[in-house]
Amino acid sequence: MSVDLSVNIGNLKLQNPVILASGTVGYGNEISNFTDLSKIGAIVTKSISLKPRKGNPPQRIVETPSGMLNAIGLANVGLEVFINEKIPFLREVNSTVICNIAASTIEEYVECTKALNDHDTIKAFEINVSCPNVKEGGLTFGNDTNAVGRITEKVRAATGKPVIIKRTPNVATISESAKVVKQEGGDAVSAINTLVGTAFNIRTRKPKIFNVTGGLSGPAIKPVALAKVLEISRNVEIPIIGIGGIVDWSDAVEFMIAGSTAFQIGTINFINPNAGLEIIEGLEKYCEETSISKLSELTASYQI
Ligand SMILES: Cc1cc2nc3c(=O)[nH]c(=O)nc-3n(C[C@H](O)[C@H](O)[C@H](O)COP(=O)(O)O)c2cc1C
Repeated sequence: MSVDLSVNIGNLKLQNPVILASGTVGYGNEISNFTDLSKIGAIVTKSISLKPRKGNPPQRIVETPSGMLNAIGLANVGLEVFINEKIPFLREVNSTVICNIAASTIEEYVECTKALNDHDTIKAFEINVSCPNVKEGGLTFGNDTNAVGRITEKVRAATGKPVIIKRTPNVATISESAKVVKQEGGDAVSAINTLVGTAFNIRTRKPKIFNVTGGLSGPAIKPVALAKVLEISRNVEIPIIGIGGIVDWSDAVEFMIAGSTAFQIGTINFINPNAGLEIIEGLEKYCEETSISKLSELTASYQI
């Protein structure tokens, strides 16, 4: 039996729903020696900002039970180097490239989107709204539903390519902002980014992370992520890209049942850079065994 694994996010068609998450595969170059990127549904590049960012000093990563904390601080090469040095590599990879953008003002989001819009290699934008809004006193954009709406509206106006808004789980009602994303013309939401966490060294009594807190990712966050995806799915009609703790095909199936059209894998890439391809194989087998001819039938098929 042949299985159709393809999925659509807005007008973006992916050969399968497996997407490599931002910040875990660099600009594609960091993982391309370990897996075949042309077989993956899509790859999301590390958050790009207008200017290069050094990020936080070390320690920036620490392992925690069933997961990890990171406080990289959005270290990235900046827009210019991304265009001149990273896009040429990505062009050769023969995979669908989604460009993730981070910024601290709405104008910066728009400027980055416009500058990248003409590059054919980039098929869609994922907007990371988990950054502090410097213009309005440093309140994180992602915690402010109005700001999420304004960013969606302005980025939407700057590009005809699919706009995906990446949501933080660190809010009371994630579906409220998903509603706003839909109203303002966003094509999809990806959920979730990392959860705020910390860890201490019990001898020195110092935080294990220089930044004191970091973002928790990995299997530890999977049930939280699934609940957020389900909440959005039950309240808003918008494609959801589920993210959080997926390590194998069965996790991926759960995310699709809970409402995801596609999903991203992050932390697992550090442990098994070929996990994406293994998940694709697993999904195909699962569909054959359960007589599913089109994988997208699984999306939001929960029986509640
Ligand atoms: C080391 C590291 C760096 C990350 N950097 C980014 C980033 O630059 N932009 C972004 O939107 N998400 C970033 N993330 C979040 C991931 O894309 C993903 O949302 C999160 O890790 C949850 O998925 P996972 O449990 O599969 O890792 C990063 C995650 C990790 C572990």
